[in-house]
Amino acid sequence: MLPRVLEPEAMDTPDEARDYDAMNHTAVNARFVADFLAAHGPCRGGTIFDVGTGPGRIPIELCRADPVAVVLGVDLAPNMLDLARRNVTQAGFDARIDLDLVDAKALPYDDGGFEAVLSNTIVHHIPEPAAALTEMARLVAPGGTLMVRDLVRPGSDEELMSLVEMHTVGEPESARALFTASLHAALTVREMQTMVSALGLVPDDVTMTSDRHWTWIWKRPHDGSSNFRVCP
Ligand SMILES: C[S@@+](CC[C@H](N)C(=O)[O-])C[C@H]1O[C@@H](n2cnc3c(N)ncnc32)[C@H](O)[C@@H]1O
Repeated sequence: MLPRVLEPEAMDTPDEARDYDAMNHTAVNARFVADFLAAHGPCRGGTIFDVGTGPGRIPIELCRADPVAVVLGVDLAPNMLDLARRNVTQAGFDARIDLDLVDAKALPYDDGGFEAVLSNTIVHHIPEPAAALTEMARLVAPGGTLMVRDLVRPGSDEELMSLVEMHTVGEPESARALFTASLHAALTVREMQTMVSALGLVPDDVTMTSDRHWTWIWKRPHDGSSNFRVCP
């Protein structure tokens, strides 16, 4: 098995933010939003929380797909957030998407404060992701949905290079380098299942959902806990 090789946690140089946003994530983002709405159902008027929002493309896609969606996106990188603000304004969603500089490992919000919590491809950036995963799960309201997705670390260099060849056609060298580094930094499905199990949740809720992604979908039951605001 390939060893995990970490990337820097925040993507915070202006070049890094611009190069990431220049990559074509259209199909991946559309699938993320479609899978979320299939799991959650239509948005119900509570806030949807996007952790590690990057250039804000997933909140924008969600607002286009669901007229009721209202989103808070957070990121650790000020330059990425500047780009997200520009993208949100350009898309015309200033009234429905808020953005803030917040660390996923210590989220300053109440238990169960969000109708749903989303996160796409940030887990591989975090050296010890358990704290961030615990925080994300804590914030889901009863009846709400958690959906976390990220890349899978391949089993060999050959497998890794074949994914890079397949998924960076027409992209510049910077995109190939970014995707290669991200695959090296990713968790395996088994590593992710072990973390979910350590949270006392069901490891089999983490499944392989493409040739290069795992997805963890969890619905917080309506458990009557007074600490949690019930999902609308
Ligand atoms: C690969 S990008 C993904 C962006 C976005 N989710 C998407 O799918 O387009 C990863 C993002 O996670 C952010 N990030 C990394 N560690 C973080 C943390 N601890 N808290 C918040 N954001 C973080 C990075 O700054 C970067 O913007």
